[in-house]
Amino acid sequence: MEAWNHGKSVDDGYTGETARFRAYGNQLIGAHLRLREMIDDLYDAFDDGRDAHDLHVYCMTLCGAVTRHHTAEDANVFPLLSARHPELEAFLRGLKSDHNMIASLLFRLQRSTTREELDAVSAVLETHFIGEEKRLVSVLNALEPMGDLGIEVFDGRA
Ligand SMILES: [Fe+2]
Ligand SMILES: [Fe+2]
Repeated sequence: MEAWNHGKSVDDGYTGETARFRAYGNQLIGAHLRLREMIDDLYDAFDDGRDAHDLHVYCMTLCGAVTRHHTAEDANVFPLLSARHPELEAFLRGLKSDHNMIASLLFRLQRSTTREELDAVSAVLETHFIGEEKRLVSVLNALEPMGDLGIEVFDGRA
């Protein structure tokens, strides 16, 4: 039998928490999707023959978003996961070193916004995203809600 309180199911709070509870894994997938779209935007800008200023704007949007996402993973997500799942520690160390490598690729892309540099960023990021999604989504979805971990990427597309 369902319990009601002022016409609202008392389960609503729990359901709301459940939605957040699931959200960390989903947030990761959503963030990667946004970042992939930003990569596509920069490829489109090359295809459309956009000028150096426009390319720079798309590039900075992408680089800023990737950097913020990785900073939040390094600061919030990986320490949390490694404390709760010591078996993931080596994997998380690998992801962290991917972040460092990606940071230097982003630096190169900002210095020289060419299709070749974007190819390098895109290939490494795609492998990195797939690795995180395969290994971390279910673990993140099993975490209890604990507020904003900062991994989401909002639509700051140029
Ligand atoms: Fe990452
Ligand atoms: Fe990620």
